[in-house]
Amino acid sequence: MIVAIDGPAGSGKSTIAKELAKRLGFTYIDTGAMYRALALKVIKMNIDPQNQEQVVNILEKTDIKLSEDKVFLDGVDVSSEIRTEEVGNVASLIARYKKVREVMVEKQREIGKSAKNAVIEGRDAGTKIFPDADLKVFMTAKPEVRAQRRVNQLKEKGFVVDYNHILQKIIERDKMDYERQESPLRPTEDYIILDTTDKTIEEVLQFLESLIKR
Ligand code: DC
Repeated sequence: MIVAIDGPAGSGKSTIAKELAKRLGFTYIDTGAMYRALALKVIKMNIDPQNQEQVVNILEKTDIKLSEDKVFLDGVDVSSEIRTEEVGNVASLIARYKKVREVMVEKQREIGKSAKNAVIEGRDAGTKIFPDADLKVFMTAKPEVRAQRRVNQLKEKGFVVDYNHILQKIIERDKMDYERQESPLRPTEDYIILDTTDKTIEEVLQFLESLIKR
């Protein structure tokens, strides 16, 4: 069984997808972590993320692996390092490139196919990676709520953050992810739309668990 969870930044999809996979004993596939890993390399190598040719060039020399909830970049565990807003924004920029998406989607399909059951989260999990997913959920919430969640999450990890800055970045990232040409973030009619603005994590989890069991 494949469960696809898509949605914009801060919609709660990572928290939900990870916990849902754990409770159901499904493989968890965090597709955003792969774009973030490549973004981290782009930043470290001082490459301009707007330079598609250079980004694609380093992509060909990069090894990205997902293992449970960890991501490895050229053999190094970068799971914590990729969680900054800067990496998220660069990930959004390089995720616009067709070649980058092709390589990532191929890897993501391989991981999904080798798993018996999987929860896969991303922006294109149920539209592009697994269009035949058994359940497709589009999680969303008001930008202000998503920004506040992101602030709390980053604070917990020890980062110093400013709410207004994060809100502005979320709005910018939404624009890029929704308006890009390649696999824009857009639910098709077979998605269940789940607005989590006024819902707790536990409420969302129980709702999804009951849907899956049914
Ligand atoms: O979900 P996230 O914040 O970790 O994702 C970071 C960026 O990566 C996001 O802004 C767009 C891109 N992304 C994508 O284009 N497709 C995916 N399946 C996952 C992420």
